[in-house]
Amino acid sequence: MEVVIVPAAGDIGVAVADAVASLFARRPDATIGLATGSSPITVYDELVRRHQAATISFAQATAFLLDEYVGLPVGHRQSYREVIRSTFTGRVDFAPGAVHGPDGNAADLSTAGADYEKMIASAGGVDLQLLGIGADGHIGFNEPGSSLGSTTRIKSLTAVTRMANSRFFDRVEDVPHHVLTQGVGTILRARHLILVAAGSAKADPVAAAVEGPVTSMVPASALQLHPHATVVVDESAAARLRLADYYREAFAGKPAWQGL
Ligand code: F6R
Repeated sequence: MEVVIVPAAGDIGVAVADAVASLFARRPDATIGLATGSSPITVYDELVRRHQAATISFAQATAFLLDEYVGLPVGHRQSYREVIRSTFTGRVDFAPGAVHGPDGNAADLSTAGADYEKMIASAGGVDLQLLGIGADGHIGFNEPGSSLGSTTRIKSLTAVTRMANSRFFDRVEDVPHHVLTQGVGTILRARHLILVAAGSAKADPVAAAVEGPVTSMVPASALQLHPHATVVVDESAAARLRLADYYREAFAGKPAWQGL
């Protein structure tokens, strides 16, 4: 796993947008996996800026969302489909029908996960997956205890996650209890994983994921099993990393051609 420590949250956007830009320069029809939440916002803003400057296009791209709440009406401003549209995909040039997400209103939720897996597979898999990390170490909505081999399925959110996400709703009671989320196993099949985190509230989960044991109790620790995983954090989120100096030194000495 490569750990990149940048001075401030705003620098995460530029570093990760460079990796996304490099992928789409090589393969304009690449498939990108998108996370919602606060962490990737600087990445999306930077990609929108580059799109407006005509240096990147998503016209041939495909996107898959990580997760979706179960039961929020279509178009609900906090449904992840709507959040990703307003923060990113609706601000650039994805073709109609190119952005996919798990169907949180599926008539049969027991098969919705398998249906989503088939869609990802038939698109040829995900080339680059963006991830945030929850305060409890979750990725996607794979809460502690999630199987490291899991695939897309319905999950119950923990009280910690519902409380964290209540900032986007009027009341915590309005945060759905259930979600459809790509599994840890689904995420591990993407060809490149980039996890981003900023702020001191993420220091403990980042340290547990990067330097702790691989355990289902910290689903993000599964990134240690991936052959190409990159963790991009600001100084505050890096505060508990024991090997922070080594990561800085390794990154500073990296050949320019290597990229993330
Ligand atoms: C969102 C997602 C979650 C978030 C995580 C961090 O699609 O999959 O894992 O990435 O909850 O959320 P923020 O970035 O809001 O702190």
